[in-house]
Amino acid sequence: MMLDIRDLSVVFTDQGAPFTAVDKFSLGMDRGEIVGIVGESGSGKSMTAHALMGLIRRSGAAVGGSAVFEGTDLLALSREELRQYQGRDLSIIFQEPMTSLNPTMRVGAQVEESLRIHEKLSRAERKARALDAMALAGLPEPEKVYRQWPHQLSGGMRQRAMIASALVLRPRLLIADEPTTALDVTIQAQILETLKEVNRKEGTAILFISHDLGVVKALCGRVVVMKRGRIVESGPVDEVFYHPREEYTRLLVASRPARKKLKGGGGDG
Ligand SMILES: Nc1ncnc2c1ncn2[C@@H]1O[C@H](COP(=O)(O)OP(=O)(O)O)[C@@H](O)[C@H]1O
Ligand SMILES: [Mg+2]
Repeated sequence: MMLDIRDLSVVFTDQGAPFTAVDKFSLGMDRGEIVGIVGESGSGKSMTAHALMGLIRRSGAAVGGSAVFEGTDLLALSREELRQYQGRDLSIIFQEPMTSLNPTMRVGAQVEESLRIHEKLSRAERKARALDAMALAGLPEPEKVYRQWPHQLSGGMRQRAMIASALVLRPRLLIADEPTTALDVTIQAQILETLKEVNRKEGTAILFISHDLGVVKALCGRVVVMKRGRIVESGPVDEVFYHPREEYTRLLVASRPARKKLKGGGGDG
């Protein structure tokens, strides 16, 4: 097993009574697998991802349990040790590419950032690797985009730039936290296609987070459904999608009117 999460918990203690955002979350992932986490807003999906990436290390929050990635418990690492993993072995992309991209840095320089941190390469080598990653992320004309600024890109292209940055060191695990939520349906479908291709070509495992079970169904083999910090059901995505055991899951399946219109038509007009 590549990633073995056991009884992960995130408890906030900074505002009055302790608040459990993630409650005994357990999940195993194999190499190359694509697993979805789905749940309504506030159900603890992002906090689960942030805990895995060591992004909740601050006073006022306690992270418990274990998350063994290729033999190492990520939750037991020091900040410095964890930095060695971030971007290299596991990467994360977020919903809002504009807030994650630095507006004062050219796209190419940002894609190269983790190369600069983790590897000693010449400028030319770095650029070649960046262009490769940009092509993998589906950016047309990588040479041109390399020199552009984030504000010159569309939302979909920005998200592709983020994906390129996340993939430039070929991590074995990509965590994607609602990466298509801010995008329109057509672009969303294209980004999902790109993630699938990355998975196929590179064998990158993907932990894909969304409030939308329809989107998860398009990409993932397996899904866990979260409600108020807990897993309420899990299984093969078709099974959960077509035969949900929980009413809550049924509502998540039905919660996307835009997708219903697409059914049968196939195209998106
Ligand atoms: N810094 C914080 N302090 C207290 N509660 C928080 C904090 N950040 C998030 N939460 C709470 O944790 C819960 C889970 O949040 P989150 O993981 O972001 O949900 P989502 O499933 O939408 O990604 C929510 O109820 C949220 O209000
Ligand atoms: Mg979230």
